[in-house]
Amino acid sequence: MAFSNVIPLSLLLAMCMNMAGAVNPGFVVRLTQKGLDYARQEGMSVLQRELAKVHIPDFSGSTHSPIGKIKYNFYGMAIRNFQLPISQISPVPNVGLKLSISGAFIEISGKWKIKTRIGIQFNGGFDVKVEGISISVGLKLGSDGAGRPTIAPSDCSCHISNVNVHISGKFGYTSDHSNVNKKIPQNISPQICPLVKNAITSKLAPLLQTLPVTAKIDKVAAIDYSLTGPPPVTAEYVDVQLKGEFFELSHHTPPPFTPPSLSLPADHNLMIYFGISDYLFNTAGFVYHSAGKLIFNVTDNMIPKDFSIRLNTSSFGTLIPQLAKMYPDMLMKLEITSTSAPFLDIKPGNVTISPKMDIQAYVILPNASLAPAFLLNVTTNALAKVAVSSGRIVGSLELSRVQMDLKHSDVGPFSVALLNAAVNYYISHILLPQVNDILQKGYPLPLLDHLQLTDVVIEPRQNFLLFGANVHYGITESNWSVELF
Ligand SMILES: *[C@@H]1O[C@H](CO)[C@@H](O)[C@H](O)[C@H]1NC(C)=O
Ligand SMILES: *[C@@H]1O[C@H](CO)[C@@H](O)[C@H](O)[C@H]1NC(C)=O
Ligand SMILES: *[C@@H]1O[C@H](CO)[C@@H](O)[C@H](O)[C@H]1NC(C)=O
Ligand SMILES: *[C@@H]1O[C@H](CO)[C@@H](O)[C@H](O)[C@H]1NC(C)=O
Ligand SMILES: *[C@@H]1O[C@H](CO)[C@@H](O)[C@H](O)[C@H]1NC(C)=O
Repeated sequence: MAFSNVIPLSLLLAMCMNMAGAVNPGFVVRLTQKGLDYARQEGMSVLQRELAKVHIPDFSGSTHSPIGKIKYNFYGMAIRNFQLPISQISPVPNVGLKLSISGAFIEISGKWKIKTRIGIQFNGGFDVKVEGISISVGLKLGSDGAGRPTIAPSDCSCHISNVNVHISGKFGYTSDHSNVNKKIPQNISPQICPLVKNAITSKLAPLLQTLPVTAKIDKVAAIDYSLTGPPPVTAEYVDVQLKGEFFELSHHTPPPFTPPSLSLPADHNLMIYFGISDYLFNTAGFVYHSAGKLIFNVTDNMIPKDFSIRLNTSSFGTLIPQLAKMYPDMLMKLEITSTSAPFLDIKPGNVTISPKMDIQAYVILPNASLAPAFLLNVTTNALAKVAVSSGRIVGSLELSRVQMDLKHSDVGPFSVALLNAAVNYYISHILLPQVNDILQKGYPLPLLDHLQLTDVVIEPRQNFLLFGANVHYGITESNWSVELF
């Protein structure tokens, strides 16, 4: 009877998992073998410091020697040097990573003393070189409940192939070194894997926790950079798939569209690649439009002095005579409102945006209240340029076309074509610089603290922007910040 409950439940779970798997990311971070090698290089120095914490306990015993039975004691052993000269990291498909270290060696110094049966003591020092240490550890990649990446050590093994002992001292310790040869690896070997695992859980895992899962942009919006699931791993790379979605801070409404699938190219010359879906940009447009933030006012004082068409009824009266008759020599104001969320169209070689807006013209009456004059609906076409600056994605728009129609007039019919020059000028010289100021502030890439990007390349692909870069990890102050909360 219990089974009848279990089966549908597991089916349901399988279905849910299928659905979750079908959600495309809005942002993909791809770590290539080159990127993993860089991370390994940085990580080895940390691991080396951790392994130097190996503790070698004193040991003692008794043995037969040419001078009869003796008691020996090895003590005060300290690690002088622990080197990890050869290491390799490789992706393990569907699991994570495998770190292999070979040819590692430890140099240890210590003291010995022996006591013969008749009570005579000898003592001295010794050096041991423990060589041919190989370590292999698996790194399992996943994601936690908050959508942060996780890394945990899995199967670890350690093997020591060779021990070289050099004993010094006035009388020397003449018996064979088999005790030292056996005891030292026996003492060290079991400590290695726990230390390696500890380095991973105490040093590497917390580092991943510094990844911004939410990047606050301003008072209106933030970006959800949480993982959509455990990172997919193939033989060539590790992909970290993030939601990559803007959301409104005051209320999280799902956008009325879904992310497209992204196919990142197989070219892996750089350490890290970002696939930034048009979904990320379009959720930004959706959020700011829904929040009523895509509204701009244009007044005469914003118009450069050298432009002849002033925002007043005398100036506009040369184009629309009835406006000047109804409202003689009064200032005007334009209110520009987006009528739909702007969509970015990303295609190989080209990024375009075609914002649609309404322009409501008002006359400012002597008592400061506004009298509506006319309403235009406008479609613009712009080319978008995207760049990375200080770890942020920044953009700018270049206007290529403005089309407009008269939607409504409070001053009687007139030919909208007459307004072309004026409206084009206002859009390109007043609205566009304001928009570009906002776009120049940009938004943060989901990067670890202290990570700098170099050799950045940017290419538009079908439905996404491809960013490639080499990374440099350093405590040198990064001149950008991500607000976390
Ligand atoms: C634009 O002007 C309207 C009044 O006409 C005002 O309510 C609004 O706050 C102004 N918007 C901006 C962004 O200045
Ligand atoms: C309107 O603009 C004209 C120039 O075209 C200028 O002479 C006039 O003083 C302006 N009027 C107001 C009210 O600003
Ligand atoms: C990019 O867009 C511009 C303006 O729409 C157009 O003139 C140009 O031909 C396009 N280039 C490509 C490669 O599609
Ligand atoms: C401003 O003046 C106009 C016309 O002169 C009038 O219709 C309107 O009520 C006035 N508004 C205020 C707030 O006084
Ligand atoms: C203005 O709106 C009308 C009606 O919705 C539409 O047919 C026309 O294409 C729009 N014109 C522009 C330039 O957006």
